[in-house]
Amino acid sequence: MEQFIMKGGTPLHGEVVIGGAKNAALGIIAGALLTDEDVIIENLPDVRDINVMLEALKEIGAVVERIDRHTAKISAVGVTSVSIDDEYIRKIRASYYFIGALLGKHHMADVPLPGGCAIGSRPIDQHIKGFRALGAKVEIRNGCVQAAASEGLHSSHIYLDVVSVGATINIMLAAVLAEGRTIIENVAKEPHIVDVANFLNSMGANIKGAGTDTIRIRGVRRLHGTTYAVIPDQIEAGTFMCAAAATRGDILIKNVIPKHLESITAKLLEMGNTVYEYDEAVRVVGAPVQHPTDVKTLPYPGFPTDMQPQMSVTLALADGTSVVTESIFENRFKYVDELARMGSNIKVEGNVSVIDGVKRFMGASVNALDLRAGAALVIAGLAADGITTVRDIVYIQRGYEHFEQKLQALGAQIELVDSEREAQKFRLKIG
Ligand code: UD1
Repeated sequence: MEQFIMKGGTPLHGEVVIGGAKNAALGIIAGALLTDEDVIIENLPDVRDINVMLEALKEIGAVVERIDRHTAKISAVGVTSVSIDDEYIRKIRASYYFIGALLGKHHMADVPLPGGCAIGSRPIDQHIKGFRALGAKVEIRNGCVQAAASEGLHSSHIYLDVVSVGATINIMLAAVLAEGRTIIENVAKEPHIVDVANFLNSMGANIKGAGTDTIRIRGVRRLHGTTYAVIPDQIEAGTFMCAAAATRGDILIKNVIPKHLESITAKLLEMGNTVYEYDEAVRVVGAPVQHPTDVKTLPYPGFPTDMQPQMSVTLALADGTSVVTESIFENRFKYVDELARMGSNIKVEGNVSVIDGVKRFMGASVNALDLRAGAALVIAGLAADGITTVRDIVYIQRGYEHFEQKLQALGAQIELVDSEREAQKFRLKIG
């Protein structure tokens, strides 16, 4: 089993280049099903969830050509099946985007209920509500979502009961080819919503209002091919920002949109760190002594739930008590027990954690329980005295491209090892 082994205690220094946004790319890949013409997607992150989505496209008859590591050309003209199922697609969350895209283009879809990180109950009732409002019949049978609209999809006015990233993108995917005008209210405003809308508009869709509370879509008869570059990943960037602060380092994080990072920047500044903003980069200089602060996760432009574990690790090394409220997913504090092995002092009650900062962490052997928790534990290991191993890194690899290599380039003593022998070699090497 692959694991990360690291010797912490060295501040991270240098430059890192951020890749394309995983969660935008997942919606965009599904969106490529909406046209019979070629779609070229650039700046794709080379991570597991993306590769699973591309493989699933091939399975239903699309041709996917990897032009280079970060560019794929998709031709969906040969799609013959609206039924997707393999053991990998069941494991990822974004498989739900195939429902919206297949329903939009082929008026039918048969897709397994989504998997993804076990961070809460994660229902998809709002997605289904949207599809039904557009005229589809939707049933759940044998663990699959079966949707059909024999007469095609039609215009609708949809109000989402909860602000959902997935439901917003999914309903957009279904509605761009629907007849008439669809209005979706109380939508999510995350940068990846805007990116998927921009991508669809570049194919000839007519979507207005992405990034506000209300999205208006005028259905078009057909969409054409496009070449589109995915935006930079807000969460990968935020992860390196926290790594700089937690290790008291100094990292220039390139290829980012600083506006998307404002909520993270604000918290790091409140803690006493220095953040410089440039046109397409941010530089974070970690203060030797950092202040506690309170964080509440909220839909964008609030503090992202996907940054909560990484920020909590940073706060766990601050001088005082912080309170973190998780208001999106109810089960997102599981990493706290792992972090306790490293000497942190965090109490969780319901959806609130009270973090009493400690002076230092000690290296330990911990498990990555989900994608962002895994990244947070790596940051903790790099800030800790001694050696840390993080197991189950398959979760981390779902969303971070060559995480260990990017960290090595910043001076981290970290390696990906595949056996106890390799781990032993690392221990001997670093002495
Ligand atoms: C997406 C992201 C995930 C991120 C999350 C919030 C992808 C593949 N995943 O997940 O990384 O943490 O946004 O930014 O892009 N809800 C319902 N009914 C629904 C849909 C959602 O009640 O039909 C609830 C959820 O339980 C949750 C909240 O709405 O409490 C937000 O979920 P949502 O934004 O949909 O998250 P995901 O799309 O699952």
